[in-house]
Amino acid sequence: MSQHKNRRFWDRIAQRYAARPLKDVAAYEAMLAATASHLRPTDRVLEIGCGTGGTAITLAPKVAHFLATDFSAEMVRIAQAKPGADAVTFRVADARQALDDGPFDAICAFNVLHLVEDMPGLLACIHENLSPDGVLISKTWCFSDVKLWVRALFPVLRLFGVFPVVTQLGVAQLQQALLDAGFEIIEQRVFGAYPQNPYIVARKAGYLA
Ligand SMILES: C[S@@+](CC[C@H](N)C(=O)[O-])C[C@H]1O[C@@H](n2cnc3c(N)ncnc32)[C@H](O)[C@@H]1O
Repeated sequence: MSQHKNRRFWDRIAQRYAARPLKDVAAYEAMLAATASHLRPTDRVLEIGCGTGGTAITLAPKVAHFLATDFSAEMVRIAQAKPGADAVTFRVADARQALDDGPFDAICAFNVLHLVEDMPGLLACIHENLSPDGVLISKTWCFSDVKLWVRALFPVLRLFGVFPVVTQLGVAQLQQALLDAGFEIIEQRVFGAYPQNPYIVARKAGYLA
């Protein structure tokens, strides 16, 4: 599926996405706290695939500058209308384009790496656009570790227009992709019920604090 069609999918479901209640508030809040612990008040932070902006709005007051991006104009429109959005610079941009404004001290990618067309290429680009001590803070669905019967539903759900095109990686493949792009993993945890959706913090391999 083309990038254009992917973007249309997210534009179309943006209102529904914004209206859905958070399934596990405690897990989300714990993830926000863990993320905040990696950010410094002087940091320039980029978020790719920011969706309707809740994470960016919560984290922005803790850093010097927070650029939140998404390729869906509809997602960004909803984000910009939220209270607290003034603290964030929102921009409509594909994940690759968003990196043009680098280097960043932290790059957040929550529930988006499995959605991009060329994940290895994007990881290499993220690596290139992080400051030497910068961190990539991510949460990624690793669908090839999900039960086969669940995965068998994906094409059907896609046919009905309610599921996006995804790259089906396992957790081990995701870890390897990060290493291949020149990262080392400094933290890996699961917030919530799904080990197939790990939270991984990585920095440039060989960085000496
Ligand atoms: C599952 S939502 C996650 C939103 C938010 N990060 C969260 O965790 O709730 C995925 C978001 O990534 C965006 N997205 C998907 N592919 C993208 C790409 N190639 N570049 C930028 N944004 C993308 C979608 O528009 C959507 O808002």
